[in-house]
This record gives sequence, structure tokens and C-alpha cells, in this order.
Amino acid sequence: MRRLHPAVVIFVLVFSTLATADPLIAGKPFARASASTIDLGRRIFEHNWARPESWTGPEKLGKGGDGLGPMFNEVSCAACHKLGGVGGAGPNEQNVELLSLDLTGTPLISARQRALDIANQIHPAFNRSNASIVLHQFGFGPDDDEQEYQAYRFDLKSRIRQENFASGDTPQISFELAQRNTPPLWGMGLIEALHTPQFRNERERIASEQKKNNRRGVSGRVPETNGGDEGWYGWRGQVSDLKDFVTSACAMELGLEVPTHLQPAYALGKSSRRRHSTALDLSNHQVMALTAFVANLPRPIHIIPENPNERRIVEEGESVFHGIGCAECHVKTHGIAEEIYSDFLLHDMGPRLADESRAVPHHDGPRVISDVTLTRVSGRSSHSSYSGSGEASTQTFRDVSHFLVPALTAPTNTDQEWRTPPLWGVADSAPYLHDGRAATLHDAIELHEGEASASAEEYRRLSDEQRSSLLSFLDTLRAPVTNNVE
Ligand code: HEC
Ligand code: HEC
Repeated sequence: MRRLHPAVVIFVLVFSTLATADPLIAGKPFARASASTIDLGRRIFEHNWARPESWTGPEKLGKGGDGLGPMFNEVSCAACHKLGGVGGAGPNEQNVELLSLDLTGTPLISARQRALDIANQIHPAFNRSNASIVLHQFGFGPDDDEQEYQAYRFDLKSRIRQENFASGDTPQISFELAQRNTPPLWGMGLIEALHTPQFRNERERIASEQKKNNRRGVSGRVPETNGGDEGWYGWRGQVSDLKDFVTSACAMELGLEVPTHLQPAYALGKSSRRRHSTALDLSNHQVMALTAFVANLPRPIHIIPENPNERRIVEEGESVFHGIGCAECHVKTHGIAEEIYSDFLLHDMGPRLADESRAVPHHDGPRVISDVTLTRVSGRSSHSSYSGSGEASTQTFRDVSHFLVPALTAPTNTDQEWRTPPLWGVADSAPYLHDGRAATLHDAIELHEGEASASAEEYRRLSDEQRSSLLSFLDTLRAPVTNNVE
């Protein structure tokens, strides 16, 4: 190995000292991005892919790419992440729809495989390692025809409602539709910094403290990804790193061809005439810029009222929040992320909040079912549990057979587990909960069950005054003031 020039060594030392001093640049290359890279990322985030000619960016978008689709949910990132400014939460109209095969009554692996094969005939994104898929809002058929997909989608949804999938010698299989509400992306760089080696022990520490103390029955676990990594992002904590999430959002939400994640194929099998290009829509550099933009979105703020009376009420509300156990899960400060109010652990929230697009169970050892080891294609974990459409990519092949073997893994109530969402900025991110079913903060708290039952019960027993001070406190947790409101 060549020896480094002493000046280089000094530079590296100084640089790494700086890097650890600022949480936003703790070891993540995109977080050191230049203003022009972040600006490029913002343009890509806001770009309407239905109108490629509207691109005003400094560099060309992917050459030969076919833009939006064939499968997509919206025309831009900003079409969903928009409340309180570009990068915010989204309303229920933009919820992502998930379709899952319900395998709870099908314990036998062979029967599960058969059910998955049948599901694959109904929608090609299902396969033996994929029991839960995104049911896209839109799809371009041959000749850019959108009608054909809408008719298929409408028919599929009505069949699901009537549960009429049994036929002849095939076993009865049932599907479940679920939704995911768009979360805000404020302060993502700080969350990304939480899983640098410097801070990642913090989450383990919180988890083991919960286990040891078992206060009010609260005991979370560290989320895992299909590939066996620690998860941080998504309502189920199913994705481990921000660039991976951003890349899969490009593919899954917009149908863009990007490095490492394939865009989903047209659901009805026939390739559409115009939109069949497999050329990249975004280069790796452009995806990095997009990630840098997301990682550099400002963190939410805490507005402390100037009026002493109001301030007293807010302070009282915060002590109620701690007093009734909300902070067991919504941990105020996590590593360097001050006032984030999350432990980033999965908690069993009870059957009312359950759905079949499950959290990844914990695995020990190799993931082998009988004599078959399933491998997945294309990328690691993804926006939901999408895993490509049968075409191999350059990424590591990894086993994702978890949902076929829930009996052999723990826990089995993965349908009820949710990652504690950070409450910073919560006053500006209604509607609430993973599917946006709660219109108000009060409704969201009322729906807490499972591990949060005791805390929710204490909430119900508060005096009107205490309850309204708690809500006043939550109301001070606001989205950052940005100048990019639509
Ligand atoms: C159709 C609406 C929609 C569009 C378009 C969309 N998102 Fe999202 N986004 C969501 C939803 C819903 C989730 C939560 C998904 C989950 O947890 O399974 C999410 C989650 C995320 C997360 C993880 C947030 C967290 O707290 O864990 C990131 C990062 C993200 N989106 C970035 C993007 C980027 C970048 C784009 C554009 C390429 C984009 N999204 C486009 C709806 C959308
Ligand atoms: C056992 C852990 C736990 C406890 C205790 C807990 N929460 Fe939660 N909280 C969660 C989880 C997990 C979710 C997400 C559930 C979902 O999306 O279905 C959540 C969601 C929320 C939301 C909605 C956030 C959003 O962005 O949608 C609010 C508001 C909230 N909690 C406030 C509270 C308050 C106030 C208390 C105390 C009364 C409390 N929580 C106690 C785990 C907990």
C-alpha cells in the first residue's frame, strides 16, 4: 500500500473531527452535499414526471428513460410529501394501497406456496417470496391506455370484498387491502445519523431498559429488514437506510428506472408500446442528490409560547405526557436527535391497528424452509415489501422467506407491530397513524392499544384540564418554517 502524505493524514484527522462534531455530517456522504447538489435534489423531488418537458434542472435527466410508470401512484415525490411545505406529510387522498395475501389460516408451507402461486396469477407482483404488494393507483397499458388497468383494479377490489377467489381444486385464499399514509420527511438527516456507530447503541439501550423495567407492559424490539439488517424507516421500520428508501420510492411510487431497484412491470403482463425502456430515468448521481435533499430537510421545531400563562399550560402538558407513560415509547431525546419523541422500536399496538402487510419477524440463523432456500431479486428491503418482478439485478441475493415461516420465528404478532413514529412536528402532520385513520391527535391517542393500553387508559382518566394541556403541548411540536410551501 502506498504511504499517505502527512498532509493528507492531517486533513483526514481534522475532517473526521469536524464530522463527528456535527451530527448532520456524521459519516454520511450525502449529508456533506453542496448547495448545488441539494438544489438538484429539490428539483428532482418536485419534478412532475408526467410532464418531462417541464424539467428545468441544470443537468439532463436519464437519457433514454421513459419517465413515469408503467405503474405509479403519483406524478412526483412532492405530490404526496407536501403538507406544511415540500417534504411534509400527505393527506389520505394520497395514501398508498397495499394488497396482501392473508396466510394466517394456512400454516402448511406447501399450502402457502400454492396460495402464493395462485396470487401470482391474480397479480404478477406476488411470488413465493412476496405475500404483500403495492396495488398501484395507475398503470399505463399498451398504447398508453390507462382504462384497462383501472378496469382490472376495480374488478380486483370488488372480488376482494366478496372473497370469491376459491375455484375448483384451488384452496380458498383471501386477500386484504391496507393503506399507508405519507409521513413527513423533516429532520431525516438526524435520523440517518442515529444509525452511525456512534449512536446506534442508544436504541439497543432503550430496548433493553424497556425489557428490564417492563413499565406498563411496554417492551419494544429493534425492527429488522427482509435482508436481516436493522430497520429504521417506514411505518414497520422495514428499511435500513435512507438512500435505499429514496431509491425504492422512485421505483415504486413513480415507476422510475433507477440503479439497484427495478421499476415494477405493467400489472397485466402485456408490455406497453411506448413505456418499455429499461434505460435509467435517474443516474446514481441524481438519486444521491435526491437523497441529499431529503437528508437536509430541516428538523421540526418546538414553538414555546411567549404568553406566560400559555407557556405554563404547555409545560404542564409535557409533564402529563411523561407522567402517563407516553414517553416510554415516544422517548424525548434519542441520541443526538433532541425532542424527536421516538424510540424507533416496534411495539405491539393491538388487533385494531393490525394489517397483513406485516413487520419482518426476528430471525436467528439461516432462513431456510424445509429444503428450499428462497432468494430474492433486485435490491434489499423496499418501500413496502416489493421485491422486483423476477428479474435479477446486480445486488446481493438474499433470502426473504420470513412470511412463509412465522411459526418458526418470533414474534408472530407482526401484523400488530408498528415503529413508534417521531412526534416532532406532529401538530402539522394530520391525519395520523399508519393509515391516516385518526383525524386528530385525540383520536390517534384513543386508538392506542396493546403495549400502549395502560398509557391510553391513563389518558382517558385525565381531567379535562390535564387532557387539554397535554394536547396543547403536542400542538407546540410544529413542522419547520420553510419557504418552499406550494
Ligand atoms: C403516493 C404517495 C407517495 C409518493 C409519490 C412518495 N412517497 Fe414517500 N412515502 C409515502 C408513504 C405512504 C410512506 C410510508 C411507507 C411505509 O412506511 O411503508 C413514505 C415514506 C417515505 C420515506 C420514509 C419516511 C420515514 O419516516 O420512514 C422516505 C424517505 C420517502 N417516502 C421519500 C420519498 C421520495 C424521495 C419520493 C419521490 C421519489 C417519495 N417518497 C414519493 C408516500 C409517497
Ligand atoms: C407502547 C408504545 C407507545 C406508547 C406508550 C404511546 N405510543 Fe403513541 N404511538 C406508538 C406507535 C407504535 C404509534 C403508531 C401506531 C400506528 O401508526 O398504527 C403511535 C402513534 C402516535 C401518534 C400519531 C403519530 C403520527 O404521526 O401518526 C400520536 C399523536 C401519539 N402516538 C401520541 C401518544 C401519546 C400522547 C401517548 C401517551 C398517552 C402515546 N402516544 C403513548 C407507540 C406508543
